[in-house]
Amino acid sequence: MNILAIDQGTSSTKALVVDAGGTVLAEADHPVTVTTPAPGAVEVDPMSLLTSVVEGGRRAVAAAGVRIDGVALANQGETVLAWDRTDGKPLSPGIVWQDRRARTVCDSLADHAGRLTALTGLPLDPYFSAPKMRWLRDRLGTGAGVVTTTDTWLLHHLTGEFVTDATTASRSMLLDLDTAEWSGEAFGLFGLDEPRPRIARNDEIVGETGVYGTAVPVAGIVVDQQAALWAQRCREPGDAKCTYGTGAFLLANAGGAPVRSAHGLTSSLAWDLAGERRWCLDGQAYTAGQALTWLSTVGLIDNPADLDVLGGTVGDTAGVAFVPSLAGLGAPHWRPDATGAFVGLNLAASRAHLARAVCVGIAAQVVDLADTVAADLGLPLPRLRADGGLTRSRVLMQIQADLLQTPVEVAHAPHATALGAADLALRALTGASLPPPPPARVVTPERTAQWAQEQMAHWRSALDLTRRWSE
Ligand code: G3P
Repeated sequence: MNILAIDQGTSSTKALVVDAGGTVLAEADHPVTVTTPAPGAVEVDPMSLLTSVVEGGRRAVAAAGVRIDGVALANQGETVLAWDRTDGKPLSPGIVWQDRRARTVCDSLADHAGRLTALTGLPLDPYFSAPKMRWLRDRLGTGAGVVTTTDTWLLHHLTGEFVTDATTASRSMLLDLDTAEWSGEAFGLFGLDEPRPRIARNDEIVGETGVYGTAVPVAGIVVDQQAALWAQRCREPGDAKCTYGTGAFLLANAGGAPVRSAHGLTSSLAWDLAGERRWCLDGQAYTAGQALTWLSTVGLIDNPADLDVLGGTVGDTAGVAFVPSLAGLGAPHWRPDATGAFVGLNLAASRAHLARAVCVGIAAQVVDLADTVAADLGLPLPRLRADGGLTRSRVLMQIQADLLQTPVEVAHAPHATALGAADLALRALTGASLPPPPPARVVTPERTAQWAQEQMAHWRSALDLTRRWSE
């Protein structure tokens, strides 16, 4: 049994062919075209998403040289587009989850913010799908196709079905968090009259596709962060993972009932399986890997991969702090207008110090999230499981453990998201699971708790400055 698992992410699509023993037989990476036409605007060419899913998948299958038995699809979550259901053609760009132009929609619904959060578990913020859907619908007028998340559009092209999954739907602000069904009230408050895709479980066969050769079932459809939570085997309340990709996303298992955050975190579905539904709490740093891409774009580092070469040469940041909120602040601050900042620049600060400050800034934002999750769950997080491309940075992972003052378990393979989707597909097709992953590399704190407190206090002052700057 071989699964083609596709992780359709913000910056690229990763495709893996995995056998039932968990061996990755081949992988392919295909970039997608994201543009930032104006401050606050982040768009993606939908056809580049589709091409990446089709071509990336075909390349992985060709490289594996085996017959596949199923296709799994993880998706980037809150990105939306308008499209024509008769021919599948896009009628708008993809409005990426980082796009903040739907702030106007959120402002206009401010009186209903509390009710919407109570219904859906999500704070009213342009990050989520529904405000962007409303924003897009306002620009297109009524009657121009359907507005959905990108998974539904991709699955239309793969299978002809009109479907999403429960975890993706739970990131939309349109799902009732308790019943895991569409909330008519939330659709009404957003004034959305869109046809509603069928909500599938994560361990369900949703259709068939012949895009990768002989027609095979499509199963294991899931939103990407929850796929990584599943792959990282965070099965007990308090088990937490952080995926360091375009952004950094910390999710913690909240158990068999929704936990509504008292501290501004996001509450959504962790997974929805036959006979088992779990919820999670999460928070997000919108730019992590993308902050490095930005640094290389402006010439501060030559290549994101050079981070350790540079940042590893110094043991401190020369007093510089970096706040990586280049696309606003999510949980627990919810400041879509916030911008990023280097604070504390001085003549002794070299490029190496700035590179290290970026690592500290990303890690500090994750600590902020971990502290908030712990406060909501009423228990400290004993460890953090880490995955995603940025975990290749030993400097970042060490700083993360030092600031958290807990071990960081770095996944053997960075592509947990695709493996999580593959595992869910296998479950749907055979009832079996992938074997446990090889042991993680455990990074333990090397600095003192006092050092961590001082660093966090320094970083929080910088965060306060950027928040005031945005006011
Ligand atoms: O919420 C958006 C997030 O899930 C995107 O993940 O991997 O594309 O950075 P990624």
